[in-house]
Amino acid sequence: MKLSEALRKLLALLLVLVTGTAVPPAFAADAVSSATVNIASLPELAVNPDASVLVIFFSTNDTVKAVSYTIADILRADVFEIVPETPYTEDDLRYYTDCRADREQKDSTARPAISVWPDSMEAYDTVFIGYPIWHGQAPRILYTLLEGIDLSGKTVVPFCTSASSGAGSSARNLQALAGDGAVWLDVKRIDNGSGTDDIRDWVLGLGLKEEAEMRMTINDTPVSVAWEDNDSVKALRELAAGGLTVQMSMYGGFEQVGPIGQSLPSSDVQTVTSPGDIVLYSSDRLVVFYGNNSWAYTRLGRITDKTPEEMEALLGNGNVTITIDTERTDEPRSFLRIPAETQRIESMAFAGVSADAVILPETVTDIAADAFAGSRVRFICGCADTYAERYADANGFIFIPGD
Ligand SMILES: Cc1cc2nc3c(=O)[nH]c(=O)nc-3n(C[C@H](O)[C@H](O)[C@H](O)COP(=O)(O)O)c2cc1C
Repeated sequence: MKLSEALRKLLALLLVLVTGTAVPPAFAADAVSSATVNIASLPELAVNPDASVLVIFFSTNDTVKAVSYTIADILRADVFEIVPETPYTEDDLRYYTDCRADREQKDSTARPAISVWPDSMEAYDTVFIGYPIWHGQAPRILYTLLEGIDLSGKTVVPFCTSASSGAGSSARNLQALAGDGAVWLDVKRIDNGSGTDDIRDWVLGLGLKEEAEMRMTINDTPVSVAWEDNDSVKALRELAAGGLTVQMSMYGGFEQVGPIGQSLPSSDVQTVTSPGDIVLYSSDRLVVFYGNNSWAYTRLGRITDKTPEEMEALLGNGNVTITIDTERTDEPRSFLRIPAETQRIESMAFAGVSADAVILPETVTDIAADAFAGSRVRFICGCADTYAERYADANGFIFIPGD
């Protein structure tokens, strides 16, 4: 999606959205709870028009919650947290003490009440369901959930965390409650020590979504690249997500070389290169060829839409600037709208928020320095010449004017 298209969409959203009637003077984390980008419980605040994936989770100690937000970030999914009507206290969770959780797990009829329900599943093709293992099974509140929502037609991806146990029959028992009509994938137990990369490998391995395309320009000319599938490219992709600019220098009459600014994983092998090849040299330098050479490199990719003559014309006439970014750097897809009349955005207000963009009303005149800490928000949308625009400019956000 091009930026102009995103803008059109944003303007359309601004027109369509209805402002809530009860208007908080300040926007704080409490105002949205952790299920922030959740069209079900906060229809007037949050919109993620493109999301086809929903991550529903229950978590009492944030382990499942952290995994859920990682999944949502990778897939640009909506998130819905199951919040019990009666919260679990520390004593309720002291297992093997006949605590509340122990008793519920022993009682096959226990159905702890859920405080807020997701009211529509219609928009979603895929629903991830995450839970901790409690005595070998999903907590009973998941049973409450599955008896209360309709998953027919969806792909369901169960996942869990635990101290040490496997997922066992936990997902099968949930599936039995959900009835027919949904396709359930194998349950995934996420190790407590799993990093983002492990979760990313699993999620992308499910084939639900292609990874964001990595794009490259030489000066201002976009080039098509067939990227290699290796650890170096994976690391480059992470860097490119924030936008990477490399100042290149002509060298040897056959290549341009420039510093990436940090070392990437490499596995150099003696390589014969030809025009259009992109390699990593000495772990920290990007090299693009318009001629041939033979040296120890790690291959990164190959430009596929330029002839050798075109490569020479691009690279053989003076030093160039190369930019590499991913689809998401200039294209907000999910928006969080802050209620009209809000004046102050509190500290950590967006922690955990997986929307790309927030839409701030004109009335905002104060934003805490760490309001966006722990979020992935990179775009601020609002009226031109307002505090929102000045804040965005001063703090490295991309500002999108609207009305
Ligand atoms: C009542 C209860 C029962 C538990 N039973 C098990 C178990 O059978 N096996 C296990 O490995 N961990 C068990 N655990 C540990 C949790 O599965 C583990 O800490 C999980 O990662 C917590 O996720 P959360 O932080 O998102 O709540 C239990 C925890 C509680 C509170």
